[in-house]
Amino acid sequence: MPTLLIVHHTPSPNCQAILEAVLAGATTPEIENVRVERRAALSATASDVLAADGYLLGTPANLGYMSGALKHFFDQVYYPCLDETRGRPFGYYVHGGSDVTGAVRGIESITTGLAWRRAAEPVTVTGEPGKADLEACWELGATVAAGLM
Ligand SMILES: Cc1cc2nc3c(=O)[nH]c(=O)nc-3n(C[C@H](O)[C@H](O)[C@H](O)COP(=O)(O)O)c2cc1C
Repeated sequence: MPTLLIVHHTPSPNCQAILEAVLAGATTPEIENVRVERRAALSATASDVLAADGYLLGTPANLGYMSGALKHFFDQVYYPCLDETRGRPFGYYVHGGSDVTGAVRGIESITTGLAWRRAAEPVTVTGEPGKADLEACWELGATVAAGLM
């Protein structure tokens, strides 16, 4: 069964609400035969990445970049996964207070290096997520998971 790996850094209730919406989309009953695994970014390993078929990444914007936790994840897995994960689909979300540009740029740059294939538009949210934000997060999870069916 294909596996979707969600790697996230979730330090606050707003980030948790987004993660839960993404998870709800990815695990909606219409999507059959896709296993969804979730890992905190500080605990995800190269083995987790190699064992999965697609990826969903989630992070707050911190100090103009992705969180140190998600950066640490990439630092750990980049070379061990570079050869074997080329072309695999991924999506991501970024939550921030006001400006998520640097975090988006960083994720785009690293995933381009990995040659992962973006399977959905990124979702960016600032402040408290509203209904439309949470729906976009649900869609993000559902789209990337459905692509693995
Ligand atoms: C040290 C620190 C740096 C931050 N830097 C940024 C930033 O560069 N851009 C941004 O949009 N938000 C920034 N934020 C806000 C976080 O993205 C935000 O706190 C996080 O997504 C959790 O959201 P919440 O505080 O609304 O629950 C920063 C927060 C902290 C604690």
